[in-house]
Amino acid sequence: MKIPFVDLKRQYSDIKEEVSERVGHALQGMQLFLGENVQSLEKEFATYCGVRFGVGVGSGTDALHVALRACGIGPGDEVITVSHTFFATTGAIALTGAVPIFVDIDPETYCMDASQVVEKITPRTKALLPVHLYGHPADMQPILDIAERHKLWVIEDACQSHGAQYHGRKMGSLGHIGCFSFYFTKNLGAYGEGGMAVTNDPHLAETLSCLRNHGSRSKYEHLLLGINGRLDEIQAAILRIKLPLLDKCNAKRREVAAIYSACLPPTVVKPVERPGCYHVYHLYVIRTPWRDELKEWLGQRGIETGIHYPIPVHWQKACQSYSNGHNLPVTEKAVSEILSLPMYPELKAEEVIYICDCIKEFFEAKTAKKSRVRRESL
Ligand SMILES: Cc1ncc(COP(=O)(O)O)c(C=O)c1O
Repeated sequence: MKIPFVDLKRQYSDIKEEVSERVGHALQGMQLFLGENVQSLEKEFATYCGVRFGVGVGSGTDALHVALRACGIGPGDEVITVSHTFFATTGAIALTGAVPIFVDIDPETYCMDASQVVEKITPRTKALLPVHLYGHPADMQPILDIAERHKLWVIEDACQSHGAQYHGRKMGSLGHIGCFSFYFTKNLGAYGEGGMAVTNDPHLAETLSCLRNHGSRSKYEHLLLGINGRLDEIQAAILRIKLPLLDKCNAKRREVAAIYSACLPPTVVKPVERPGCYHVYHLYVIRTPWRDELKEWLGQRGIETGIHYPIPVHWQKACQSYSNGHNLPVTEKAVSEILSLPMYPELKAEEVIYICDCIKEFFEAKTAKKSRVRRESL
């Protein structure tokens, strides 16, 4: 059986006609940016997240960048975040001229370990930037409490957690600004690039929308040094078809995760869902010290897997200058053991069971080999 890591063709085949029709309609109008679809999507996605404002941008990276800039973060400032994330979280901080300060992660959720934040705060600290990695919420209450006590901004990297919840509230709605990516493989993905920053604060919303459009509010008048970070109309038209399907797709991801969790052998560490949290399984990540061997074994059996992420940000060459005495043992151990299994709403139960069976066989073969070696050495 061949099982790709992600299969976007299955979802596309269900919405093909509607996509052609809506994209055709957008092209007929030829208002290709900041038009009817972007404006409607901003309202619809903000409502979905339970916040007042949404500002469509070109990518999740743009969302993080304009969010930091809207909070006035720049050279000389420090932003506390995690190293176990996609590079863009840190890249966006560095692009503002601020310095990323890394804290370690919780070994079970792979999200920011809130207990380590306070010791990293200095007079230069301006913001906390937790990441809701793999679709599981970071533990936001202690993070929000620390931010309030120390008067810090909270910017949520919700790029992997569309629809995830923390005690009944959607991710992206808890901090000052929530940042989303609509990269095509995300739980809500465009057919290209896209993103959104969401907030309850009208002043921040105004600044975000100005920054994403060259710092301009009216044509050729530039109030701020912004970027070309607009969401385009065709992507917004596609996202408006997919947004109403998001909850159902997340529910299907949870069903796939439940089958994995029931059928995988106890020799692998499975993802957790903390009380009060609603995990949306952007990724289903297991853990084993035999990760590389298992990955190869699965590949030989037609199963594509991924590693998110094999090199932590603080080890990246681009981040050499941010040597702030890292002590990130949980992050550094996780990167050699984590393995992302195929995960998408359309994955069939028999495919998940096949993957679990292959993993069981891997460990059985390992045990058999070990006892053979032991017997031969007696
Ligand atoms: C955690 C995280 N942050 C930020 C980003 C950046 O989003 P984009 O690729 O849309 O720029 C991503 C996307 O891969 C991500 O997974």
